[in-house]
Amino acid sequence: MPESGDRDCDYGIPIPGDELPPDRWAITALKQLPELGPLDIETIFGRKAPLAVELGCGNARWTISSALSRPGFDHLALDVLPVGIRYATRRANRRGLANVRIAVKDAQTFVRDYLPAGRTREIHVYHPQPYHNPREARLRLIQPTFLADVHRALEPDGLFVVQTDSPEYWQYIRQAVSVLFTFSEHPDPWPDAPHVRTRREIYARLRGLRVFRGIGERSADSPDPERLAAWIESIPEPTFQTKPRRGTSRHRRTPGR
Ligand SMILES: C[S@@+](CC[C@H](N)C(=O)[O-])C[C@H]1O[C@@H](n2cnc3c(N)ncnc32)[C@H](O)[C@@H]1O
Repeated sequence: MPESGDRDCDYGIPIPGDELPPDRWAITALKQLPELGPLDIETIFGRKAPLAVELGCGNARWTISSALSRPGFDHLALDVLPVGIRYATRRANRRGLANVRIAVKDAQTFVRDYLPAGRTREIHVYHPQPYHNPREARLRLIQPTFLADVHRALEPDGLFVVQTDSPEYWQYIRQAVSVLFTFSEHPDPWPDAPHVRTRREIYARLRGLRVFRGIGERSADSPDPERLAAWIESIPEPTFQTKPRRGTSRHRRTPGR
């Protein structure tokens, strides 16, 4: 997480936003999820607003940045590892981000059981764990049932935004996502974040690794259930092989793409 002596930066790049005085802090930790979903999103945020969800958020750099620049959106961010979530929560609290909730939770279970159908405007996944060991391939987040659950959770015209620096994972993602969504690749950095959206993206660019980005748009019409089931059936499992990459330029100061 943050480098010692540099608590509010990722590899020297500041986390967006400023700390507010304590009387303006928010409470963003979603500590206790109900035993059964779906969540009542309006009750959680105390209003009805479009919802953006970040899965496997790490330190939730993207969520914090998006919540600051889009106060009209509510944001849910989650990760299985508590350490990143602790930093994320502290920063979001101290920035007074009432439009953010952050939880420790497995993304697959969360989307399947806790996101109400057709309620989420955007689902974001940045640099999902590639799991280089073939025995762990089943743990990969992007897989047929997960994509089916993302499709169900999104509003008509909702967006699935995904990014990775693993070429093999990217080959799989573009093929698999295109089955259920209108998929467009985005070769350049996102225009709202010309430098970076996430901590892993900073790391990848410092190392000279290529970053792959894309958006899957859910169609406005819901396909009939039989057709949807056939589409899901046609998506292969993510059993591809990867090789860990060490990057080409370890100490480059200015991130490349
Ligand atoms: C390579 S890191 C990327 C973190 C962040 N998105 C970024 O781009 O900086 C992958 C993250 O996914 C999390 N993760 C892995 N499997 C997960 C799962 N099933 N549910 C939620 N988070 C998961 C890991 O704990 C880790 O924080």
